[in-house]
Amino acid sequence: MSFAHDDWRPRFHLAPPHGLMNDPNGLIYHDGVYHVFYQWNPDACRHGAKHWGHFVSTDLVHWQALPAALVPDTDYESHGCYSGSAVIHDEGIALLYTGNARSNDGGRISTQCLAHSRDGVRFAKAGPVIPLPPPGYTAHFRDPKVWREGNDWLMVVGAQTEDEKGTILLYRGKSLTEWAFVGELLGERGFGYMCECPDLTAVGGREILIFCPQGLAPEGERFHNIHQAGYLVGRLDRASGRFACGGREAFDELDRGFDFYAPQTFRDGRGRTLMFGWMGLPEEEETPTVANGWTHCLTLPRELVFENGRLCQRPAIELETLRGKPHAIDRLVFDDECWLPFSGKAFELQFTLNGIADAWLDLCVGTDEFTRVSFNAATRRLSLDRSASGQGVDAAANNVRRSAPVEAGPVHLRVFVDHSCLEVFVNDGEQVFSARVYPGAASDRLRLGASIPSELRNLVFWPLDHLGRMPVVMPHRLPVTATRPKEAGGSTRHHPGPPP
Ligand code: FRU
Repeated sequence: MSFAHDDWRPRFHLAPPHGLMNDPNGLIYHDGVYHVFYQWNPDACRHGAKHWGHFVSTDLVHWQALPAALVPDTDYESHGCYSGSAVIHDEGIALLYTGNARSNDGGRISTQCLAHSRDGVRFAKAGPVIPLPPPGYTAHFRDPKVWREGNDWLMVVGAQTEDEKGTILLYRGKSLTEWAFVGELLGERGFGYMCECPDLTAVGGREILIFCPQGLAPEGERFHNIHQAGYLVGRLDRASGRFACGGREAFDELDRGFDFYAPQTFRDGRGRTLMFGWMGLPEEEETPTVANGWTHCLTLPRELVFENGRLCQRPAIELETLRGKPHAIDRLVFDDECWLPFSGKAFELQFTLNGIADAWLDLCVGTDEFTRVSFNAATRRLSLDRSASGQGVDAAANNVRRSAPVEAGPVHLRVFVDHSCLEVFVNDGEQVFSARVYPGAASDRLRLGASIPSELRNLVFWPLDHLGRMPVVMPHRLPVTATRPKEAGGSTRHHPGPPP
């Protein structure tokens, strides 16, 4: 497919070659290669029988698309190879994922399944390794995230109690095929009616439980997306499965924007904890790019750090290699509105506001269009407003404005614009706003504004154009030391049993 005339196609965000992309899956760094799998319906721009699409990279910046790693071609995953994770095992990569099937009467059947690959390209399925949820839980049982501890494997998996509370279950495995249920992570009240995509990671000595509760009611400026993606800081009791934390009120959103869900973390060769999120939300399929044959994309890779008592997210440092020739302005005093002397559709922009005056930055500005990032000095809130961004926004659906508090002092903004993708990092990742916007082809200018004279410092603009378009046709070749596949031509249609 050619994207030559697709002005919404991102240059440095991962997007599907065609069809619908949702959750990042199986994120892993192995043998010098980053693997990003993703939920993919290659056949249509709507949710359906999900495959695992597959991208690889050696630098987190240049990605190569590989053939789908998992195709839903068995009874136990007839309605999709749903989300899951990857671990290094048996000289290769093992995937743990949810087989989504239907019974004759249309009921949901969810099993946790295993697949393995020695070459990191072709995966052989081993079938379900957890065939049923434990008693007391419904078939909304999915998205296993697995890690190694000592001689055992641990798994967290999203679940729903029979009285329809969202929760997360802990399993312990003596091997990747023998799992025992340990207990439930969240307290009696659960979270909403279902928790999807749980992930337990450690950042700066703290345990962070990330998950996506469905059915939380909005609270003030929080929880306005259709479903939420957030985290709790605490400690997992490995014996009972309970996650001890500061209470459910401590649950905080990871991202303040409109389009962020199902994030997953992994540790890389440098010991960093990196995270990708889906830059989309469930039940929002009608995006303007459907007309161009694809929909949704992933966020940039973000490094997680724990600083000043909070979890911060920073764009992976490798993204700096994308920067073209910088334009710098050391100090600028502005009031009313002024144009910045550069424009673009794929760029990074940084600057620091003094934090004393109200000020705003308009991105993707055209004749009638703009996307506004604004700072209110009295409330110390930063807002993102896409009511005038272009296509694909709907005031009735409450998807035009989001805001979040920022710490006292100057306000540092680091903004990435990639055609239809916008990521705003505030104060070195203290807050992040992710949003999709669909401006017209000519909407590429930048404007500043303030109600009283306002000052900014250290502005730098870098075009991020030199990647060209994401490669979508891939040579069947990996930049890894190839090991011989276990099964000659081992296609996903064969199920040779679990890895030894
Ligand atoms: C989250 C999710 C997961 C599921 C997958 C299906 O977006 O609903 O719970 O495994 O997407 O594509």
